[in-house]
Amino acid sequence: MLSLEGKVAVITGATSGIGARTAEVFVAEGAKVVIAGRRQERGEAVARKLGDAASFISTDVSVEADVKAMIDHAVDRFGRLDCLMNNAGKGSQFTAIADVDLEQFDAVIAVHLRAVLAGMKYAARVMAEQGNGSIINVASVNGFRAGLGGHYYAAAKAASIHLTRCAAMELGEKGIRVNSLSPGMIATGGFAKNMGMQPDEADDHPEYAEAAIGSVAARWQPLQYVGRTDDIAQAALFLASDASRFVTGHNLVVDGGISAGWPIAAVRTDREMFFGQFRRAAQPVLVER
Ligand SMILES: NC(=O)c1ccc[n+]([C@@H]2O[C@H](COP(=O)([O-])OP(=O)(O)OC[C@H]3O[C@@H](n4cnc5c(N)ncnc54)[C@H](OP(=O)(O)O)[C@@H]3O)[C@@H](O)[C@H]2O)c1
Repeated sequence: MLSLEGKVAVITGATSGIGARTAEVFVAEGAKVVIAGRRQERGEAVARKLGDAASFISTDVSVEADVKAMIDHAVDRFGRLDCLMNNAGKGSQFTAIADVDLEQFDAVIAVHLRAVLAGMKYAARVMAEQGNGSIINVASVNGFRAGLGGHYYAAAKAASIHLTRCAAMELGEKGIRVNSLSPGMIATGGFAKNMGMQPDEADDHPEYAEAAIGSVAARWQPLQYVGRTDDIAQAALFLASDASRFVTGHNLVVDGGISAGWPIAAVRTDREMFFGQFRRAAQPVLVER
């Protein structure tokens, strides 16, 4: 059921990180894949590694004409479109509300929300004619849990999760499933790019992010290991495949448990503080049991 044999997928932001790994997994499971992103050399290298089953198209997802050309390319090259994974994205810097730059906000919305809508617009036309398809919008735990990332990014991801549900309600009767996929902290070059590192250099060194995530994972995640691109690619495989034929309008969270609550490792010390304080305050009247 997890096979993608005979299916064609478009993955945006597939020149690196989660998108590049998902392209590898999809091809290994039998799909033909269009790799979309802005960096020509890197995108062509990713596609070359995957052989005839992959094709790169230079795409800026914030440009509607590029998004249309990307979907057209999938149909011209491989004859159909079964899955669109709207994955392109860039990191989230924290800016205080009093200091926000509305042009930067627009730029984040253009990539994380407007591009998702544009992708769905052109993919839905093809999928509706076929009578089936799966759209996967990569969101984030920031989209439903506040305080982790920057305001622009969090708001854009929240809107993309809700837009996913809205689209799912409309497109279900045409046989098109629409789901979002929300990663937690995943070791990619995205973090280093966000801190100003040159993109290719950042993508070649996910270990920087791995070390940084490792330093907080114990307090943030009940699962004590660092999330990898493959963790997200496997979830995307499920959503792209017929194994998820009855799943739509869902936000699949793959975050090591970050969003489920407070890990015991974080709570243990606070609990000891709470009960210690309680005992000290209530000592005079506390009855020993
Ligand atoms: N890593 C995490 O912890 C994490 C957590 C939650 C959500 N996410 C989401 O996961 C997705 C993938 O991120 P990642 O961690 O894999 O980072 P990444 O390796 O930096 O991947 C981002 C991809 O998006 C592409 N991209 C950026 N702007 C674009 C544009 N305007 N047009 C076309 N492509 C564009 C980049 O390619 P080019 O530079 O070649 O254009 C790159 O391939 C993003 O949506 C991100 O928000 C990541």
